[in-house]
Amino acid sequence: NFTPRVFSGIKPSGGLTMGNYLGAIKRFVDMQGGQFETIYCVVDLHAITVWQDPAELKNATREVAAGYLASGIDPEQSILFNQAQVAEHAELGWIFNCVARVGWMNRMTQFKDKAGQGKAAEKASLGLYAYPSLMAADILLYHATHVPVGEDQKQHVELTRDIAKKFNHDFKTDFFPETVPVIEGPAMRVMNLRDGSKKMSKSGESDMERINMTDDADTIAKKFKKAKSDADALPETVEGLADRPEARNLVNIYAALNDQTNEQVLAEFGGEGWGKFKPALADLAVTKLAPISTEMKRLMDDPAEIDRILSRGADRAREIAQPILKQTYDIVGL
Ligand code: ADP
Ligand code: NA
Repeated sequence: NFTPRVFSGIKPSGGLTMGNYLGAIKRFVDMQGGQFETIYCVVDLHAITVWQDPAELKNATREVAAGYLASGIDPEQSILFNQAQVAEHAELGWIFNCVARVGWMNRMTQFKDKAGQGKAAEKASLGLYAYPSLMAADILLYHATHVPVGEDQKQHVELTRDIAKKFNHDFKTDFFPETVPVIEGPAMRVMNLRDGSKKMSKSGESDMERINMTDDADTIAKKFKKAKSDADALPETVEGLADRPEARNLVNIYAALNDQTNEQVLAEFGGEGWGKFKPALADLAVTKLAPISTEMKRLMDDPAEIDRILSRGADRAREIAQPILKQTYDIVGL
């Protein structure tokens, strides 16, 4: 009996990558205008869990908004805003800090990856540690029923379910939904182009390892042509990708860009060499991504317009968030 509602977010912590596009934004666009109410956020409060230069943060927030808009998020159909404008996120986040357990946070692998171990981890911000609890608040503040994310966020959405369950149990209510993560398709975990060994990330070491959403056509083509592959021809079946991380990654990317399955891609390219597949992939990527990058640049020339869209989105977000936070306070006795 919860309204079918989607919430998801992206951190403004450096430039958007093709991983963010294929694993998140493209799928957000696909979910828009159907059975769901869709709410998409630039999660700036999450970005500051690690140091951000204030001027760059403002710019990155607008860039993520431009990435959403250029990819086809329609601010009339979806609610598009940045988190810091809706204070209810932080307020519910605090309540969830008091629901979640330290032991739960200790199991979060992303914190371990980002903070390191031992003495290094002691220097991480308290916010980085509590991040999944704020993420639960982002989602549950809207009673979101579905959260499309990449695979790296699966554990955090599971924690969101645990927080909802514990809250409902502790306060003898069924106020919060058990949100379902939507993790599907070939691009759940886009890897770097160097050797397919690590997630393609905004903070990847070398620019050649990732495709940025702001890369122009020539840069996109050059990076794909240089992308590492292996010596063998493409396999005829997906089983043949099992021990071939570079090949699997490039096939996944092709499939996701072209709205195909890996089976369909291999039906066309199985048995072919990289000399045929890589140029086809480069062309496809240019066709699909370069218009987005051009549109992002156009949008970024008018920051006041982006701010206006975000501010209108924040007003609409608050209309849903405020009554839910108010009821939460009532349930807790605040
Ligand atoms: P990043 O990991 O690039 O800093 P965020 O943490 O803001 O980005 O994640 C935004 C969304 O993009 C999340 O849903 C995340 O799962 C998805 N995502 C990020 N990188 C990838 C990737 N390489 N492949 C698939 N999805 C990704
Ligand atoms: Na991430």
